[in-house]
Amino acid sequence: MLWIPIDRSLDIPLKRQVYEYIRNQILHGDLKGGERLPATREFASQLGISRNVLIEAFEQLLAEGYIVGHQGAGTFVAQGAFLEQEQKREQNKVSSISKGNQNEKDMIDFRSGIPALDMFPRKEWGKLSKEVCIDTPNSIFGYGYPEGRTELREVLSHFLRKTRGVVCHPEQIVVTSGATQAFSLITRLLLSQGDRVIIEDPITHEIQTIFTSTGATLCPIPVDELGIRTDRLITKLKPKFILVTPSHQFPLGSILPIQRRIQLIQFARASNCYVVEDDYDSEFRYEGQPINSLQGLEPEKVIYVGTFSKNLSPALRIGYLVLPQALIEECRQLKWFQDLHTPSLDQMILARFIEDGLLERHIRKMRKIYMKRREVLRNALVREFGDLMRLSGDSTGLHLIVDFPSVEVTEKMVEKFYLNGVKVYPVERHSFHKGRHQNKLILGYGNLRAEEIEEGVYRIKKTLSLKG
Ligand SMILES: Cc1ncc(COP(=O)(O)O)c(C=O)c1O
Repeated sequence: MLWIPIDRSLDIPLKRQVYEYIRNQILHGDLKGGERLPATREFASQLGISRNVLIEAFEQLLAEGYIVGHQGAGTFVAQGAFLEQEQKREQNKVSSISKGNQNEKDMIDFRSGIPALDMFPRKEWGKLSKEVCIDTPNSIFGYGYPEGRTELREVLSHFLRKTRGVVCHPEQIVVTSGATQAFSLITRLLLSQGDRVIIEDPITHEIQTIFTSTGATLCPIPVDELGIRTDRLITKLKPKFILVTPSHQFPLGSILPIQRRIQLIQFARASNCYVVEDDYDSEFRYEGQPINSLQGLEPEKVIYVGTFSKNLSPALRIGYLVLPQALIEECRQLKWFQDLHTPSLDQMILARFIEDGLLERHIRKMRKIYMKRREVLRNALVREFGDLMRLSGDSTGLHLIVDFPSVEVTEKMVEKFYLNGVKVYPVERHSFHKGRHQNKLILGYGNLRAEEIEEGVYRIKKTLSLKG
């Protein structure tokens, strides 16, 4: 039975109160299309208002299409007048997101690949931004070239040769919006429907999604403690390329030894395909000597992908490709087609940042900080779990792998961790063939302070309730 709360104390005419109430009920979906409204005489007397008031309100609703009258049968809610429900859902969504953020304020997030955001060299970057903005020629404010600013490509080729043993001319570099765009360009450049790509298994599922976006087929090769199992490469696969993360396999963290690097190059030569080298966080090596890039071994067969997301900030959205000669022109065109070019001013600031030695200084400083954070995490895990877990993949980068042989890390368990205030990430999420890594977690520590790491490990312990 429909009831309308009439309030005579309000300064709103009764006709208006009735009209608005019924209108809102229809818009919100509380009165549904086709539903019959009560006869006016009886309804008016129940509400204690005059029948004329009710008729006038109904006429208004009728004129606006909210209700329809059928001769002799009565008055009905019109079809298709339901809208507000959608808005309600939107409002709920917004409020649940902000509520989520509030809850997440105390959340300890072991997400991998996030550098220490509070350590961004704000002062130096800010100073250079101002200088570049004032001193740079006017042409910078116009359209640029798809491959990026010459200034950046020149300092970058120098920097990469010195720090990573990458052999290239500035013309081989295409500046991209992060490594993510570099992968998207490689996909468009080399892959068509039905082509094959060899990937490491596991590898980030984002990369898997990008590579399959043109209909290519992924051929996963398992990774062991040394990296991709090169003994499992078979030439009859005839892939267009092989994607590897040789400096710090993502997510397992292995470093590919020279023997396997050579096997990879030999395979690429024999299969006439490329090797795509994702060198995403190679700068942060804590043990042993840094290993030079794969690209330096065979520049015409390796496409090198780099990013400033880990050594500076993912918010910059600047990465780059170092390409064999044969791919440069087509890649320029594709980049132009995607977004014309990466923002010029940011490229110029970055070029100055590298040229003035600030990037190397920042990396040196951050390596020490990350090394300490890694130590805190390792110690906390050993203290809490002892030999109930195994650590691996931690000699480079911003994350490590913890393996709990007696625990199966299910998505349900991830929820349980979340409810205990800690976000963790199962390796299995990135696995192509499921079931090989279900005991392993990826713990990123780059953006966590020592006390947060300690507390996070305590929360992991609380969730697992293992006796260490
Ligand atoms: C394996 C791997 N490569 C590269 C990247 C960097 O991506 P981008 O440069 O687009 O930020 C990531 C991001 O976390 C990654 O996990």
